[in-house]
Amino acid sequence: MSPWWRDGVLYQVYPLSFKDSNADGHGDLLGVVSTLDYLCWLGVDGIWLNPFFRSPMVDFGYDISDHCAVDGRFGDQADVEVLIREAHARGLRIVLDLVLNHTSDEHPWFAESRSSRRSPRRDWYVWRPPAADGGPPNNWKSAFGGPAWTFDPHSGEYYLHTFHRRQPDLNWRNPAIERAMWEVVRFWLDAGVDGFRLDAIHHIGKHPQLPDNPPREPSARPDTAYRLLGEFDSVLHRYDKNDPLVHDVLRRFRNLLDTHRPASADAVLTEPGHRLSVGEVHLFDWPDWPQHWAGYYGAELDELHMPLNLLLVSAPWSAEAIRSAISTVESCLPRSAWPNWALGNHDESRVASRYGQPQARAGMLLLLTLRGTPLIYYGDELGLPDTPLAAGQIRDPWGHRQPALGRDPQRCPMPWTSDPHGGFCPPGIQPWLPAHPAAPELSVANQRDRPDSMLTLTRRLIALRRHRPELTSGSLDWVEAGAATDVLVYRRTHRDNRSYVLVNFGAQPATVRLPETITVAVSTVARSAASQGRRAQVQLEPFEAVLGLSITSPAANDGT
Ligand code: NOJ
Repeated sequence: MSPWWRDGVLYQVYPLSFKDSNADGHGDLLGVVSTLDYLCWLGVDGIWLNPFFRSPMVDFGYDISDHCAVDGRFGDQADVEVLIREAHARGLRIVLDLVLNHTSDEHPWFAESRSSRRSPRRDWYVWRPPAADGGPPNNWKSAFGGPAWTFDPHSGEYYLHTFHRRQPDLNWRNPAIERAMWEVVRFWLDAGVDGFRLDAIHHIGKHPQLPDNPPREPSARPDTAYRLLGEFDSVLHRYDKNDPLVHDVLRRFRNLLDTHRPASADAVLTEPGHRLSVGEVHLFDWPDWPQHWAGYYGAELDELHMPLNLLLVSAPWSAEAIRSAISTVESCLPRSAWPNWALGNHDESRVASRYGQPQARAGMLLLLTLRGTPLIYYGDELGLPDTPLAAGQIRDPWGHRQPALGRDPQRCPMPWTSDPHGGFCPPGIQPWLPAHPAAPELSVANQRDRPDSMLTLTRRLIALRRHRPELTSGSLDWVEAGAATDVLVYRRTHRDNRSYVLVNFGAQPATVRLPETITVAVSTVARSAASQGRRAQVQLEPFEAVLGLSITSPAANDGT
């Protein structure tokens, strides 16, 4: 039997913004519990939760001061237990965010490390003396802008932080770090979690000598498939990430994940060998990056189950660009490795804002019919766009420093009802970030029963995936779209079952002739009953996407 995540759909919950259960304006774990029936109704299989561990919240939970405690804003340990139990009772899996590259500067490990050069924990973090001129030890940049080094006047050395100065990097060349972190992993596996998302995992491997990174020539065309991240990308990240050390660590992590047996089986739903590991791996600025990225599956498929794939997030909305993204991934995957796809996450502008609403609908059809595990970012099933914010409403440290790169707009509250703030929190309470002005209209309550809504579309596509083996286990091959140049057509095949996906990326109607007769099972625009009947030639509206089922496929059940 294949593991749950292979045919399943993963849904990303940003807990601070999902549902506030205790009227303090912050989403919390019991809030998530109250939405589990919705997530089951939607049809997803697992939830990836962004960090909810104890944290000063400088980077909204990615700065952890205790990995085995719940931050008070989110609830407490008893609430996680309720969440895991209630999710499991509904067959939903829980995937936690594991931040291995750094901690908060308020973590007791760092307090001890910083206390003196002779501290037994000094070597848990990356400390270096100043350069000859008193400046930072090398030219590495922080992802949030400025140098990646901060001077500690008390001990007279600099410490390294790939992200905020209050997120010091751990020294993974010290075996004590791995021992301490595997204790954290065991703690959460014992609590019954079903997998982990490994944050910024490519960064734990740094070149042992910490050499300067080569400058990126400003005149050169960006040699990256991803947007440039301001000052951080003024250098090429040759030495501050992707050292072979990461792969050694990941093999040992995977072994632990696959073998650890919790002392009590009470909270457990997933067998050890079926737990999930996904990891954030950004290598777009490396030559031959697809090979390096795919290397994170492991030479023997013994590292991550899936390095996260952001190609749909970075691709422009065109048939050529999306086809190239799909081909790039399909052609670099190791044999038997399983792909994954996402249209957004908490770090990226939302799909409805990047491309537009009709395109977001087509994007959802694409996401849920590609080969691999789809990851849905909360709110994207509603077509939620980025929320416009005034300067005084910015919370993200990155946004404070480099406004164009701020991530608050995509982290605004999930709209549930037509109440103020979309029912995220009670009417008289201010949510920690403002709700989108159209929240009531976009809300779950408002879309749930509308046959033409984005929510209905998403739910129908998820249901179809479940009933059509070609959409999960099937192969994917291209079908030529003839004269329709901005149309992408692919076929998913499993034994005698075939589905066709047609996406018109253009603002003009287009006609496609298919090699066989289909019925239109799903369209992202309103189609008349007549235009859904049997046909081999399909007229597509601007930005329309269609899922067609071969009329000779035995899996006649379309999930409705
Ligand atoms: C990647 C996470 O997705 C992002 O939100 C966070 O700020 C950094 N890693 C640092 O942990």
